[in-house]
Amino acid sequence: MLIWPATRFVAGEDREAAIAAARGLNARGIAVSLDLLGENVTERDEAASARDAYVDILEGIDEAGVDSNISIKLTMLGLDIAPRLAEENLRAILEAAEAHGNWVRIDMEGSPYTQLTLEIFQRVWESHRNVGVVVQSMLRRTAADVERLISMGARVRLVKGAYREPAPLAIQTKAEVDRAFDRLAERLLDDGNEPAIATHDDARIRHVIEHAERRGIPPDRYEFQMLYGIRATTQVAMVERGHRMRVYVPYGEKWFPYFTRRLRERRENVTFVLRNLIRR
Ligand code: FDA
Repeated sequence: MLIWPATRFVAGEDREAAIAAARGLNARGIAVSLDLLGENVTERDEAASARDAYVDILEGIDEAGVDSNISIKLTMLGLDIAPRLAEENLRAILEAAEAHGNWVRIDMEGSPYTQLTLEIFQRVWESHRNVGVVVQSMLRRTAADVERLISMGARVRLVKGAYREPAPLAIQTKAEVDRAFDRLAERLLDDGNEPAIATHDDARIRHVIEHAERRGIPPDRYEFQMLYGIRATTQVAMVERGHRMRVYVPYGEKWFPYFTRRLRERRENVTFVLRNLIRR
């Protein structure tokens, strides 16, 4: 059961709640990516249910006529059981998305999955163009990954990275992760295919806008993305200033790992929860 205060970050538990949240955001000029919560499934049946639930939400999006694509996690589609299984389930979702004229983003999970995720992305890319992937600026490998993805013409979402990673693989200081983010954003803006810049960080957003203006890259060639429940006023303000904004809307019963990642990221999010607990 979805309990308050997770409701700040999670739209609800079912398809209706997800579509209602998408409709509300669309009314403010904001596009959506719906994310059915869940990760690291260990049973084939669970992976098949996740696949079917994604096919179902694609149908729901089409029926409701909302402006939303979907975001998926390969460990929810069976990556821990067998990469081939996750790939088969992903292909079924991509075909359903194609039938509905829709599009799928593969989220990036922790570093044990980076290589596998990129390999699966690359394989499905050969036969499907309605798919994109995510890269994390905290990982040392990402500059090379971005160059390869640019040369493929792939659509990339850039994030800082939400998982704790060891020093040999990942930059450990915020200032350096931010610098890497700015450099990668520049590369994606200059030569990428409709990059998505996913951050709530004003300094990163400013850097992107200034770089795009310097290079004469119009705002419709890239989009900003933020998470549901975070900086909602800024999301609307950016649309009003002529920027494209897409909000990532998680829904579903398996909300706990996502919720704890959001709390770990920022003291204010913990303060928000504590303040509301006291108020209750
Ligand atoms: P950071 O956490 O460094 O915050 C920087 C600044 O942003 C703060 O100083 C503040 O100014 C502002 N800010 C942040 N949170 C705020 C709040 N609650 N209220 C007010 N201001 C706030 N990660 C991943 O590993 N794989 C993935 O696939 C994805 N996918 C994804 C999609 C989308 C659309 C987004 C926005 C993010 C992800 N992420 C992700 C998560 C990402 O990696 C990262 O953990 C979070 O976005 C937090 O990092 P920020 O870039 O916002 O900056």
